[in-house]
Amino acid sequence: MSSLTVYCESFGCQMNAYDSEIIASLLEYRGHRVVSSPAEAAVIIVNTCSVREHAEERAIGRLHDLSRHAGAALVVCGCMAERLGIALFEMIPGLRGVAGPQSYDRLPAAIEETAASGGRFALLDGRGATTYALNPAAAGRGVSRYLAITMGCDNYCSYCVVPFLRGPVRSKPPETITAEAAALCGGGAREITLLGQNVIAYRHGETDFIALVERILNETEVGRLRFMTSHPKDTTPRIFELMARENRVCPHIHLPIQSGSNRILGLMNRAYTKERYLAIVREARAIVPDLAVTSDIIVGFPTETPRDFDETLEAVAAARFDAAFTFKYSPRDGTAAAKLADDVSPECKRDRLRILNERVTAMRADILGSQVGRHTEILLDGAVQKGEHRFRKGRTPHFRNAIVASGGLKDGEIVPVTLKRLLNFTFEADVRISQNLSQNI
Ligand code: 5AD
Ligand code: SF4
Repeated sequence: MSSLTVYCESFGCQMNAYDSEIIASLLEYRGHRVVSSPAEAAVIIVNTCSVREHAEERAIGRLHDLSRHAGAALVVCGCMAERLGIALFEMIPGLRGVAGPQSYDRLPAAIEETAASGGRFALLDGRGATTYALNPAAAGRGVSRYLAITMGCDNYCSYCVVPFLRGPVRSKPPETITAEAAALCGGGAREITLLGQNVIAYRHGETDFIALVERILNETEVGRLRFMTSHPKDTTPRIFELMARENRVCPHIHLPIQSGSNRILGLMNRAYTKERYLAIVREARAIVPDLAVTSDIIVGFPTETPRDFDETLEAVAAARFDAAFTFKYSPRDGTAAAKLADDVSPECKRDRLRILNERVTAMRADILGSQVGRHTEILLDGAVQKGEHRFRKGRTPHFRNAIVASGGLKDGEIVPVTLKRLLNFTFEADVRISQNLSQNI
C-alpha cells in the first residue's frame, strides 16, 4: 500500500480532539503522512460532534465545503457519523466513508482499501470494542496533552445522546495509561489532562481514579495533572484531599451542574439536588480553599419555568464558578428528553442564555479580579504578540490564562509569577525571581 497524505479536522469536545490524535497516530504508524491543509491531502477526515443540533449543522456545512476538494476522499468520523450512518452518503456528495467513535482500530485498513478501490465504507456500531492508546512515537507534540482514561458513558442523562453513540463506559488498563503518560512526557508534555465523559468513575480491577492518579504521579515526571469531566454524583472528598496533598494535581474541577432546579435535575436524570451540588462545592473548598470550579449549564430544558431558571441563577451565584459553558437545550432523537415537548420557545431560550451568560461573565470578572496581586505559577505553552511586545502565554494551576514578557523563557517551563493586571480575562504577570536567585543578584 502506498503512503497516503491525510488531513484531519476536529469538531466538538476534548475527547474528539484526543480521538483525532489517535486516528492520526494509527495512520502514521502504518506509514501514512498527516498534513496540515486539506489542499495537500489525498484523504480528508472530519471528526464530528452530535451533542447539539447546531454542532451537526456546522459539521455538515464544513463537509459540503470540503467535498469541493476534487480528488480527495472525504471521510466522516465521530458522533455524527455514528448517529446518521449511511444516510450521510446521501447528504454529502463524494463522501467515501463513515466511521463511528468505536471503530477507529479498523479505520486505517478501511481508508487504505477505499483509496485503492475507490469504493465506500461504513464502520458503525462497534459497541464497546477497543480502548485506544495513543501511539506516541507518531502522535503530535505539545506542552499540554490529553489522555483518555475512560471511553463511553452509561449515565443516560435524559438530554444526552453520548451514551447511544460512544457506547458503555470502559476504563483503560492502568498500565496502558501510565505507559501512554510516560511517552507523552518523553515527547515534551509537561501537563496532561485525563479525559473521560465522567473520569472520576474510572475503575479497572482494583484501581480506582485516585489510585490511578497516584500511579501516574509515581511513575512519570509529569509536571501537572488535570482531569475532566466529573459527574457530581461520583465526587468524594478523596478527590479534593488528593488535590490538597499532591502539588502536581491542579486545584480545578469541571463539575457540570446543568440546572439549579431540583425538578429539572430530576427530569434530567442527574441523580443529585441543587442542595447536594452546593454541599459538594462547599465541602471541596473546605479541603482546597481556593479551588476553581467550572461548569456546564443548559437553559430551556422542557417545562423549565421562570422560577426554575431563577433557581439556576441562584445556584450559579452560590457555587461561584470561574467559568461555565452554557447551552440552549437541543432535543436529540432517541434520548428520553426528546419524548417531552420542546416547549420553551426559542426566544425564551435565547433570553435565558443571555441573562445566564451575563451573570457568569460578571462572576468570572469578580473572581479573577480578586486574584490580582497573587503569587502563582504558569506553564508556558506558546507565544503571543501584543503591539510591539512579545509575550509567552500559559495557564495557572487554576486554569486561568496569563501572559508574561517573553525574555529568555521557553515553552514547557513552569514559572513562578505574580499576577499584575487583568485584561479581557487574561492576567498580565511578572516572573517572580526566586529567593535564592535574588540573593545572588
Ligand atoms: N442540549 C443542550 N446541551 C446539551 N449538552 C449535552 N446534551 C445537550 C443537549 N441535548 C451539554 C451538557 C453537557 C455538555 C457537554 O453539553 O451541558 O455537559
Ligand atoms: Fe452525557 Fe450525562 Fe454521560 Fe455526560 S454524564 S456524557 S451529559 S450522559
